[in-house]
Amino acid sequence: MTRNPDLDRQARAILVRNDRGGYTVPTNGLYPFQWNWDSAFVALGFATFDRARAWAEIETLVSAQWEDGMIPHIIFHQQDEGYFPGPDVWATGRTPPTSGITQPPVLATIVRALWEADGADPDCPRMQRLYRACLASHRWFHTYRDPLSNGLVMVTHNWETGRDNSSEWDDALARVDTSGVQPYQRRDTGHVDAAMRPEQQEYDRYVAILQFGRAAGWDHRAIADHGPFRMIDVGMSMELLRANRDLLALAEAQGDYPVAGELRARIVLSERGMKWLWNEDAGAFCSRDATTGESSGLVTNASFLAFYAGVGNAAQHARLIAALERMAQSARYLLPSLEKGSRAYDHRRYWRGPVWLVVSYMVAQGLAEQGHADWAERIRADSARLIETAGFYESFSPETGEGSGGPDFSWTAAMWLAWCGR
Ligand code: GLC
Repeated sequence: MTRNPDLDRQARAILVRNDRGGYTVPTNGLYPFQWNWDSAFVALGFATFDRARAWAEIETLVSAQWEDGMIPHIIFHQQDEGYFPGPDVWATGRTPPTSGITQPPVLATIVRALWEADGADPDCPRMQRLYRACLASHRWFHTYRDPLSNGLVMVTHNWETGRDNSSEWDDALARVDTSGVQPYQRRDTGHVDAAMRPEQQEYDRYVAILQFGRAAGWDHRAIADHGPFRMIDVGMSMELLRANRDLLALAEAQGDYPVAGELRARIVLSERGMKWLWNEDAGAFCSRDATTGESSGLVTNASFLAFYAGVGNAAQHARLIAALERMAQSARYLLPSLEKGSRAYDHRRYWRGPVWLVVSYMVAQGLAEQGHADWAERIRADSARLIETAGFYESFSPETGEGSGGPDFSWTAAMWLAWCGR
């Protein structure tokens, strides 16, 4: 049931306008290429009015998958001078050009949702092809990104997490040597207010990490072993665990028993490994540095993905719900990306406070599945109110509801259609 036909129309129009033929740009101008996890969420939006187009979005994404299994975080389908770092900076030597890093593995979860909405036919060729692509991508994570062999996900660039400038990365980034950073011209601050974007010093570090990967010829083993940034991300660890559960459902449906066994073993490993991320003082699952073992101690929106991943005992869930209650008291709109009062909190600056609807969606889905329908509904209703008052922005202030980042954003439109506007 739809609540606001006018906003439905606007949301569909945004997706159609941002469609570049088989893939959708996150927003015109600021992000002129195809982004990995954006496309996954965008497919959910398309699925509400054009199922074939939804599948195509993901098929275009995986067409740029690397031989080692990695699905890149950006695919540069066309030239555009308005973005830094562009294909020449990444220099991955691929056709089409891509970045050399990945993004959150939410694809299998979304493929499963599309497939179920299409009638869950185990012989569906589109599902089968994407199943194989997702399996290769998950195996890439298991092979290259599990240095502690505990089923968690290590990232080698903060951009991989999708929560680019979250303060979870601050301590690790502070150790990155920027002395070799070659001169460059940022483009993001030409599109949106600099107060909403990462600071210059942070950006230099992002570039330094990129340069390390490039100098290593994008050898993922070398980068994982020796890279300057090695964080175990709570968000991606939870997302991959969830995605492995969904991939397992697809394996079982097709009778692919060897893979089903492999995935079950990974799931058990990750469920156990997640204990290492629990921070008793913070009362939450937190990201940890793979090199120093240090916990960020920060409660972010990604901490609540524990529900979505199906991990945590009753006591841990109670602490997480208490954190949600605190956030609900200090913010007008759930779910902020960082708790107010945390160091570096800024209600307008990117992932240091603003609400991002794709994370809110996953958290709400997990809360509903784990018996917290009231909290799921609160997050959904707040998300809808943000769009109703501000429009389809990239993110929103949890205090004022004002939109931040780019306007007419594809994944925000998709979340309206597939979730909060329904
Ligand atoms: C920003 C976000 C990232 C997203 C990208 C495109 O970099 O932090 O999560 O994928 O924009 O929307």
